[in-house]
Amino acid sequence: MSEVLLQIDNLTTGYGASQVLFGVSLRVQTGQCVSLQGRNGMGKSTTIRALMGMLPAWQGQILWRGQPMHGQSPHVIAQKGIGLVPEGRQVFPNLTVWENLVATARAGSSAQSWTLERVFDLFPKLAQRRSHFGNQLSGGEQQMLAIGRALMTNPDLLVLDEATEGLSPLLRQEIWQSLALLKQQGISILVTDKNLKQLLELCDHHVILQKGQVVWSGDSESLIADPALRQRYLAA
Ligand SMILES: Nc1ncnc2c1ncn2[C@@H]1O[C@H](COP(=O)(O)OP(=O)(O)O)[C@@H](O)[C@H]1O
Ligand SMILES: [Mg+2]
Repeated sequence: MSEVLLQIDNLTTGYGASQVLFGVSLRVQTGQCVSLQGRNGMGKSTTIRALMGMLPAWQGQILWRGQPMHGQSPHVIAQKGIGLVPEGRQVFPNLTVWENLVATARAGSSAQSWTLERVFDLFPKLAQRRSHFGNQLSGGEQQMLAIGRALMTNPDLLVLDEATEGLSPLLRQEIWQSLALLKQQGISILVTDKNLKQLLELCDHHVILQKGQVVWSGDSESLIADPALRQRYLAA
């Protein structure tokens, strides 16, 4: 009865003449958290770039609420309700926290509209730093800002590439807690990260990539129950 929000079918793409994805398929249903896993260089970020319209789909299709979305510009795709938290945060260094947040605000389609106040409630640290510039923030604060900025677009799907990369254990914990809260509030999530334990806790479904192909997908229980699989594809 759950609606399929995002559906990627047999996606192939790459860079120039170099093919990186060889028929990737995955789905995210409304309210679901899905992890995209696999060792470095297996195609996680490439999948996300194609999804966000930053790379063309060579073959296959990407459907948003059942409608083809591939071939559209990143701007149009973001407006459909997909909020990206890119690898390396990419907050605007010369804008303040406040300016970073209002720069991306988008009128929401849903009743639940994100406001500065809601973002500051979720991340009180950002409220304290609201007049600081992006380049004056710690890595953790930058990631909170990147998430807040994505939320200001009122996304139905939040996409995070390396959700907690380079953060201290304490800040990682804060990010995972905020993601759990967002999931509770009904936001769907597609996430990549190195921390399997946290992904198993947060996500309902997992997709493992190996050399640009999906080699396994399933729920947390099945992934927990299969150490050989984790050893083989995740080195975990
Ligand atoms: N901008 C790029 N130009 C050329 N090749 C790239 C580029 N970005 C990534 N690749 C290659 O694509 C493959 C998949 O990379 P990526 O999607 O970043 O993997 P992951 O996110 O799983 O670590 C790697 O072999 C990588 O070297
Ligand atoms: Mg990556």
